[in-house]
Amino acid sequence: MTVYRVCVGTGPYLMAGTLDNIFVTLVGTCGESPKRRLDRVGRDLAPGSVQKYKVRCSEELGELLLLRLHKEHAFFPKDSWYCSCICVTTPGGTLCHFPCYQWIEGYCTIELRPGTARTICQDSLPLLLDHRKWELQARQECYRWKVPTPGFPSIVDVSSFAEVESDKKFALIKTVPCADKGDSSGNRYLPGFPMKTDIPSLLSMEPNIRYSATKTTLLLFNAIPASLGMKLRGLLDRKGSWKKLDDIQNIMCCHKTFTSEYVTEHCEDHFFGYQDLNGVNPVMLHCLSSLPSKLPVTNDMVAPSLGPGTCLQTELERGLIFLADYWILVEVPVHCINGRPQYAASPLCLLWLNPQGALVPLAIQVSQTPGPDSPIFLPTDSDWDWLLAKTWVRNSEFLVHENNTHFLCTHLLCEAFAVATLRQLPLCHPIYKLLLPHTRYTPQMNTLARATLLNPEAVDKVTSIGRQVLLYLMSTGLAHFTYTNFCLPDSLRARGVQDIPNYHDDGLKIRAAIESFVSEIMGFYYPSDASVQQDSELQAWVGEIFAQAFLGWESSGIPSPPCTPGELGKLLTAVIFNCSAHAAVNSGQHDFGAWMPNAPSMRQPPPQTKGTTTLKSYLDTLPEVNTTCNNILLFWLVSQEPKDQRPLGTYPDEHFTEERPLRSIAIFQSRLAQISRDIREQERNRGLKLPYTYLDPPLIENSVSI
Ligand code: FE2
Repeated sequence: MTVYRVCVGTGPYLMAGTLDNIFVTLVGTCGESPKRRLDRVGRDLAPGSVQKYKVRCSEELGELLLLRLHKEHAFFPKDSWYCSCICVTTPGGTLCHFPCYQWIEGYCTIELRPGTARTICQDSLPLLLDHRKWELQARQECYRWKVPTPGFPSIVDVSSFAEVESDKKFALIKTVPCADKGDSSGNRYLPGFPMKTDIPSLLSMEPNIRYSATKTTLLLFNAIPASLGMKLRGLLDRKGSWKKLDDIQNIMCCHKTFTSEYVTEHCEDHFFGYQDLNGVNPVMLHCLSSLPSKLPVTNDMVAPSLGPGTCLQTELERGLIFLADYWILVEVPVHCINGRPQYAASPLCLLWLNPQGALVPLAIQVSQTPGPDSPIFLPTDSDWDWLLAKTWVRNSEFLVHENNTHFLCTHLLCEAFAVATLRQLPLCHPIYKLLLPHTRYTPQMNTLARATLLNPEAVDKVTSIGRQVLLYLMSTGLAHFTYTNFCLPDSLRARGVQDIPNYHDDGLKIRAAIESFVSEIMGFYYPSDASVQQDSELQAWVGEIFAQAFLGWESSGIPSPPCTPGELGKLLTAVIFNCSAHAAVNSGQHDFGAWMPNAPSMRQPPPQTKGTTTLKSYLDTLPEVNTTCNNILLFWLVSQEPKDQRPLGTYPDEHFTEERPLRSIAIFQSRLAQISRDIREQERNRGLKLPYTYLDPPLIENSVSI
């Protein structure tokens, strides 16, 4: 008789324990153990517990290949169990980890493999090859693609969760029936939140990709007090223009931040240019070697800004003239808010990096077509004319940032990466282990956003974006999206902005740390070109990303398939960077948007002549009172990460168990800690009136989760 010692961990989460009967079977190269019930005196498998058991066998099982967990009916109602990890000590004293880190719902049997990561090429036993195949089949049945609208990246099909049986051998799914009382359509208002939510679709989210109870609760806690405050003051119901600019400052009196106050107080040109480098949308600048014909700016126009001793041509030759071109908005549809049409423009903004190192605007043309109806506005124009021209650029920034830079390029693409990972890579695959922490909560977050903020009813009434605008911008943005955009250093080089001092400093450092981490860890599993090319699961994963995220467009330049470890490392680096550096385009939304004129929608068409703008016409162009409040509420909500966070590089779920990847994780963490110290201590931030901290590693989430 031999004895295997089994140590079972239950997650420390609310309702993570189980009262169901749990059995375990060990499968080795020389045979299987009897099915052993995990039963001790007292409560087994409570949240946060680690319980020890013995499994007796008539003889040794050889190398352990699988661990079967059977969850069966007991006397109590069926429940869910979050199993974190199971450790087995063999009679010879060898310790074998079986990572699980999943919710197990209903009555089912699941099979876990040891923590050693294996590509399909490294498996040869038919038992293990079959296990991979069946695991992926079950996952593909559970996580299905849905095309939300033509031209969009595919999303997770929430309705498919309801169709899958819970007792499938490998599927860990059970639909939670909706007990909430809603209206006949199943929609329901969250208290204090001015839009309908599709509660059933949220509750039926598969548990392994669902927000934790903690995160959901804190999300509501963030939203409700702010909206109630505005409701009580009558602002959410008030239509019409603001009477004074000062009144806008007082909307979020309880939610001011250092940066939001700074933004409110600084409308000067230096800060306008600063936002192109360090704001929430730092992706628009292109270096110019000559002016495009659609922007006929002359030297005389900009000479007062450039000062003596230089001219426009000289500054172009020095590489110090930049363009922010909002061409993507040229055919954007108009929409209505409060029953009134909104307007958009497609401005061209010319900027100069001056000898003091500040980026300042030189000229703004509010349309793509030069002519008498589209004057070129200059800093020497009247204060109101120049402020209105800059406000049109801020409106374009707002639309491009929210729809494309933020929602499309981080939320939607990262959801597609998450779903492809769940569908195409088995639990034991090294890329699954690498990427899973960077997909945490992303499908749930996006489902929540689609059901609330982006549902057809809400998006036109509540936000100032408009559904038609959203659909147009995202599909146009994806059609023009390239792999160059996706890889930060390539994007900087392609735009000719890599030499702007301090531009994307933190992002480049973090990306470099991710790149080292990925190449170290993947170099262990993919030592040669052949190891990449022969991994059929990896190829299927990339193929699905190419087809579902980038819609199979060859023009995107996505390497499908990657052929070398270098190409694979670059792709994985870009995926992890996009999932985590989402913080750069997310966390500052309230800081930069709370002062509404800095991120407005527009109620009047662009000016066709100079000299007509006044304070009243300016206020009549900015959003109405209720629209302003709704937008600011939204910014507040999405800028607050609702706890249950996992900062970049933290992996409490230990999917990797081998020494080499664990060492790579430790090195990655120490690199990130050094970057954080540099950011906090360096002269750059100490000398700045407005320090840049959005990419301080402890403040970055591993994944897109808000
Ligand atoms: Fe976000």
